[in-house]
Amino acid sequence: MNHFTARRFDRLLSPIHWWIWRDETRRVQKLLRFGETETDGGRDLLRAAEVTRDPLLRRLYLVHASDEQRHGTLFRRRAASLLREAAPRLDWSGGLENSPHGGHGLDDLEVDREPDDTMLAFLHVAEKSAASRFAVYRDVMQFDPATRGVFEDILHDEMFHMNYTLTQLVRVSPERHRARLWRARLSRLWKAYLRLASAIAGVIGGVILTVQYFLILPLFAWLAKRSATREPVGWNAIPESRNDSLRSQY
Ligand SMILES: [Fe+2]
Ligand SMILES: [Fe+2]
Repeated sequence: MNHFTARRFDRLLSPIHWWIWRDETRRVQKLLRFGETETDGGRDLLRAAEVTRDPLLRRLYLVHASDEQRHGTLFRRRAASLLREAAPRLDWSGGLENSPHGGHGLDDLEVDREPDDTMLAFLHVAEKSAASRFAVYRDVMQFDPATRGVFEDILHDEMFHMNYTLTQLVRVSPERHRARLWRARLSRLWKAYLRLASAIAGVIGGVILTVQYFLILPLFAWLAKRSATREPVGWNAIPESRNDSLRSQY
């Protein structure tokens, strides 16, 4: 067992994670979503390995890419067997929940253009956060030893990713590695804020539209009905003065 301890914030949210993972449908959805994110991360790392000029980083990125590829397969396989085992009980429509997800840290970067130190800083921050989350998921997953085993296995690699990215960052940027790390952390925080803000804006928008629909629209409907009753019925002659222009109705 890995002795990596999750960050205090993630540990505080354990009961919520437990509640989320307890549900089998949500578990399958989340595993599939994680599988997608990991494979996607693997592709970006392959690209990073192609463009870096540093031979050691190239080798490490290639190992890292194949790890992420393997994580994607592990998550998808576990989701598939869970789906098979639990099929009769599951309320499964085949779709993926549309929940925002943290991503693998390179989503916000143009992998082709970023210098090695920026890449490594973003990777380190993302891997550290993934390791912390996966440690919590492993700990709350007492009810599903097979899925717990997947997290345990992946956590081992994530710890390696977290450590090598930091060591390499210090090697390639001995003077500025702290600043690079802070930039990566702040950028992640900003992205998290934007995700939260847009979710809140969505809820507020929904509430305002519902209020408009039930309170303001009926008022206009009532006014329209009332003025309709005042309109004379059928064809009516209009005064001569209003009948001059052919371009305008009035
Ligand atoms: Fe991974
Ligand atoms: Fe990783």
